[in-house]
Formats: sequence, C-alpha cells, structure tokens
Amino acid sequence: MQFDTPATTNPIDRMKVVGKPIHRIDGQLKTTGRAKYAYEWHDADVAYAYGYGYPVGSAIAKGRITSMDTSAAKAAPGVLAVVTTLDVGDLKKGQFNTANLFGGTQIQHYHQAIAVVVAETFEEARSAASLIKVDYAEEKGVFDLETAAEKAVKPDESQQPDSAAGDFDAAFRAAPVTLDARYATPDQSHAMMEPHASIAAWNGDEVTLWTSSQMIDWWRGDFAQTLGIDKEKVHLMSPFIGGGFGGKLFLRVDAVLAAFGAKACGRPVKVALPRPFIANNTTHRPATLQRIRIGAQRDGKITAIGHESWSGNLPDGSLETAVMQTRLLYAGENRMTAMRLAALDLPEGNAMRAPGEAPGLMALEIAVDEMAEKLGIDPIAFRIINDTQVDPENPERPFSHRDLIGCLKLGAERFGWHARKAPAARREGNWMIGLGVAAAFRNNLVLPSGARVRLDGDGIVTVETDMTDIGTGSYTIIAQTAAEMMGVGIDRVAVQLGDSRFPVSAGSGGQFGANSSTSGVYAACIKLREAVARKLGFNSVDVIFEDGSVRSGNRTVPLAEAAGADGLVGEDTMTWGDLTETHQQSTFGGHFVEVGVDVATGETRIRRMLAVCAAGRILNPITARSQMIGAMTMGAGGALSEELAVDTRRGFFVNHDLAGYEVPVHADIPHQEVIFMDETDPYSSPMKAKGVGELGLCGVAAAIANAIYNATGVRVRDYPITLDKLI
Ligand code: MOS
Repeated sequence: MQFDTPATTNPIDRMKVVGKPIHRIDGQLKTTGRAKYAYEWHDADVAYAYGYGYPVGSAIAKGRITSMDTSAAKAAPGVLAVVTTLDVGDLKKGQFNTANLFGGTQIQHYHQAIAVVVAETFEEARSAASLIKVDYAEEKGVFDLETAAEKAVKPDESQQPDSAAGDFDAAFRAAPVTLDARYATPDQSHAMMEPHASIAAWNGDEVTLWTSSQMIDWWRGDFAQTLGIDKEKVHLMSPFIGGGFGGKLFLRVDAVLAAFGAKACGRPVKVALPRPFIANNTTHRPATLQRIRIGAQRDGKITAIGHESWSGNLPDGSLETAVMQTRLLYAGENRMTAMRLAALDLPEGNAMRAPGEAPGLMALEIAVDEMAEKLGIDPIAFRIINDTQVDPENPERPFSHRDLIGCLKLGAERFGWHARKAPAARREGNWMIGLGVAAAFRNNLVLPSGARVRLDGDGIVTVETDMTDIGTGSYTIIAQTAAEMMGVGIDRVAVQLGDSRFPVSAGSGGQFGANSSTSGVYAACIKLREAVARKLGFNSVDVIFEDGSVRSGNRTVPLAEAAGADGLVGEDTMTWGDLTETHQQSTFGGHFVEVGVDVATGETRIRRMLAVCAAGRILNPITARSQMIGAMTMGAGGALSEELAVDTRRGFFVNHDLAGYEVPVHADIPHQEVIFMDETDPYSSPMKAKGVGELGLCGVAAAIANAIYNATGVRVRDYPITLDKLI
C-alpha cells in the first residue's frame, strides 16, 4: 500500500485501543526473566553444548599485524578453537560497515577484532585469549579532531554538506545585533544496557544467528556478505533487545566471531562483547566543533543565520550532520550551513540517538539563548518571533504540521517560566538556581515497512513482522494497531517480532520505527479485512469490524467463524509516495529545566525537567512517555557527564566502561514531566503519528546549559559542563 494522500478517517481513528495507556504486553516476560535475549537463547535445536567465544582486539590504532602466535592459547585448558584475522583472510565488508569488522592484516582502529578464542567455559576462553601474542608494524595515526579539522574536506554531495539561501555574509555584516560563537561536543558512547551479543549455530551451509539487532534485514545482508554466503542461508532472530541507541543499527563483530567460532569447533558459539571492548570496537557518536553566527534586527527578527560543523571519521566514514536542524528550525532570509569531514584514525563514528540534531541542538540552542540575551528579549519570545511554517530554505515546502509555538507556550505556563530571574540572581542557601529552555526538533523519517497478519479459527490475530523492540514498546503499539484494525481486544492479539522469516519492516532507528512499522501493520490488516469480507461475500466498503465480529448490513459473523479452520492471512508493505518531498515532516518540542549549582564546588544538580512535545498522534502515552523520560535522562548525561576521553597519542577512548563513562543514575534525575500536544499529522501516515524516541533527547542538553547560565552567569560552550568549567 502506498500512502500518498492526506489521511482522512480510517478505522484507526476510532481510537478504542490505539492511543490508550496500555502497559507493555511483553512487560511480564521481561520482569520475570522469560524474555530471551541473544546471549541467553536456547531452544530444542541448540542443546546446552555451547562454545563460549571471547574476542581479542588490536592493541594498536593503525598499522598491520606481522605475526600472531596462538600456540599457548590453543594448548590452554578447555579451548575448542582459536580463529584469527590471519586465518580468515580479507573478508568482504558489509554494506553498512565503515571499518572492517574482522579479517586480514590491516588495523584501522584500536580494539578492532583480531581473534576469537572458543572454549568450554567463558572463563577458559577469556584466560586463553590473554595468551595470544601479536606483533604489529605500527603506523602514525591522527587522533585529535582540533588538529585534523584544519585539513577537513567537503564530503561528496550525497552527504548534503552545504546549503545556502539569500546572501548570508552581507546580511550578517549589516545586522545591528550579531552573535559569532564556537561550541564543542565530545565523542559519546551508546552505553546500552545489553552488550552486543550473538549465538551462531550452523546446520550444513545454513546458519542461524540469535543476536541483538535494531535492523534485521540490514544485518542479515551484511552478515551474509561478510561471511561470503547467500543471504537466504541466514536465519536471524532478535526478538528482545536491551537497548541500542543506534549502536545496533549495523552488523557488529560478535555475530561474525560467533559464526567463525562455531564453524571451527562444530558447536553453536556465543559471543558477547565485553563492556571494556565496546567503546573502541563498535561505533560512537563523533565529536563536533561548531561555529554559529546569527544576525538579527533589534525587534528580534533573524536576518542571517549560519551554522558550520566539523567532525571526524575513518576514511569512507560519514559526517555527524550537526547543522541539519538549523536548515529548518528558524526563519531568516539569509542562511548558510556547511559541514566538513576530518580524517581520523579513531574507531568508526556513526549514528547515535538523533544523529545530527542531538549534538547540533546542543550548540544551536545555546546560541539562540545567547542571542535572545543580546537582544534583551525573553528566549521563548525570541523563538516565537522566528517561527516558520515553511522550510525556510525552500519556502514552497510547508511543514506537514508544526506546533513549536504551542509547545513553548504551554511549557512556559506549566513550568512557571515567569519566575525566571536575571543571571545569577536567585539563591537558596549554597545553591544558585536557574531556569533554562530549549526548542526540541527532530526530523520525521519514514521507511517502507511490511507485516503479515493471520486470523485463526479461535479468532486470534497474530502479527508477524521483522520489526524490532529495543525497549521502545514496539510489541505493544503493534498489538494496539492490529486490535483496532480488526475490531478485537488487545488480549486477542499476538505479536511476533525480530525474525528474518517475517516480512521486512522499517526496523528501529531514526525514530521512524513506531510510525512506519504500525503503518505496515495497518496495511496488512487492510488486506486481512478484505480477505475476511471476500470470504463472507461482504462488500468490503461497508464492512465493520467490531467486538470480535465482522458486520455487514444486518449480518454479523464472529471473526473465529469467518476465519474457519484454515484461517485467513493478510500481508502488505507500507511505502511512501512523494509526501516527504512535498511536505517537510518534523517533530517539535520544548525542554524546560531547573538546576541548582553549588556556589562553592560548581556542582550542578538538576531539580526539575519538563518536555512538551508535538509529534503527531501518540500511539500509547505510557510507552511514549517512557521514551521521552529516557531521552531526557540521556540529555542530562550529555550536558553534564558523558564524554569519551581520547588518548591522542595512542588513539583510543580511555574511559571505556561504565565506571569511567558516566551516565546519569536515578539520583541525578529528581523530577521529570512530559506533556504531549493533542494532535494528529494527516501527512505522516495512516496512523497520523510521528516519532518521539529521538525528539526527547534533542535540545535537552542546551536547556540544561542555559539553566546553568541563568543560575551562575557563566556561559559554557564546551560539553560536558563539568564543575571545573564553572569555577
Ligand atoms: Mo538511531 S541513532 O537511528 O538508532
């Protein structure tokens, strides 16, 4: 089904199940430990005779392996197999991978996998892994973004490095009030709860992979390509995932090592990446250096806005697209954005929750706060003055729906914004108190998404799609969608996810999962409804599915009876016409934060957070709120503590575990509130929904930075805002 016209009414609009605060249907499985995650998987096909694989990573950041001695490891107790990067030779790189995951002699980054040791127990594998001796021919690498940025280049047009409208330079020169400021955001790690983990089991030339993946079909293709086998020979399962944040979008080496290990020892092999391995072996959010220039009239109207960003990556790596929101968020006739890419020999930089906008808004929304202050205008009023209902670079392109102003106004009222004082003017004992605000913005992407829906003779509706649930609530909103479409209670719906035998879905990423995957289920349900109507000889136009029955005129048939013993099936894929070209689809919000900063130590404590979101129809306010508060918590980490520290001599991230890479804990987050604007977006999909999983992060750190400025009068433009930067 192609969605290419604004949605009017459809069965989803009944909102009997969709939009209701339904608790996760998979919640009990998780809280009772029965939800099987990748590393715990076992079933009849895989008896308990696993081999345990332990990875070995490169001890240099750049160069070549000249020799490896594995004899001591092979002779160690319990060892079943040792497979090295030299044994497997050069492997083909996955379509979505930047660095080689495994294979050959070349080292592209620190902790690139160079061997896997498989043993009877995890401990034996780990112990034997330490006995492998490696000789390297080390080469000099480039690890410092600041230095590398001087030689940064413009990447090819596919990455959309530049944009412009009007005459930025002239307008900026002519503006009576201007800001020209530089900002820095650090490398960040996804730091998801569940590490990357896989079990591989071969059956002849076919392989089953239980893994932790956000994108089943991307993984399946890249896994096959890396192993040099047909995609059809791979069965991939990832029904439960303990967080991803973008770190599990692309095939990772645990899957590859498990497959080689399993082949070598003739048993299923499980490999989990040890926590200290993850920061350097997998991907991270690249650091950025950003320059923002804004020129405005004295009445607050922006006349010139410019945003430049520099980030680094391995050869063939991509930009951190930190200027993207600046192309769309505020009006202004004269504009320029530019992104430049520096060559670094650090581990691969890639997507982490709200890639682009998250670090981009960390800078832009401080700049807007600074500009408002220069103008003597309240920062909310300044944002409202510069709202736009069209894409400011392409004014013929309207936003499908945009209520940034509504979010800011409602948030100001609910948060008590009127109580905000001048910088460093509010004190409670040792605490300097400040309020901060930032706009939230994240584009609304859509991806094709397929599903199959079965109706059986008991009247049970079963949804099958390779969609994933990375903790987001996919199971639940998909069940709600199918229940609404088929006119049954949610207790009559079963949802099966994360299996490559099911129709290919959007997967989980870019906050496109909820809207895209439920739209695919919608399309499949339309097909199933047609099949039911056809079987009963109903005219499908006036058929009503309600209360477990299907009705036409004065004839009512229970769904179980309609399905009969053989059952009925509907399958379809939702695709998107040119709607994203004719209409700019984005999500909006306002983040409000109150902080206290200790006058003696400079320690910042968050006291209150509020987010108001305008993101289309909210499919389930409980799971959407959980996405929001999780994202706001991540934003608090981004503002105050998260930073991968780079060793610029040896080229690696030093604080590569959760002791050194500090994410917020409960005690850091005292009070969070979330308000969703009551809205639908008729252009987004038949669901009229968008996404919130990334929106919740976008702008949070800047709101905290602005609150710290309001508390202290100290403007920090370099994240994280640790206490040393305040005193
Ligand atoms: Mo997201 S960074 O696309 O999982």
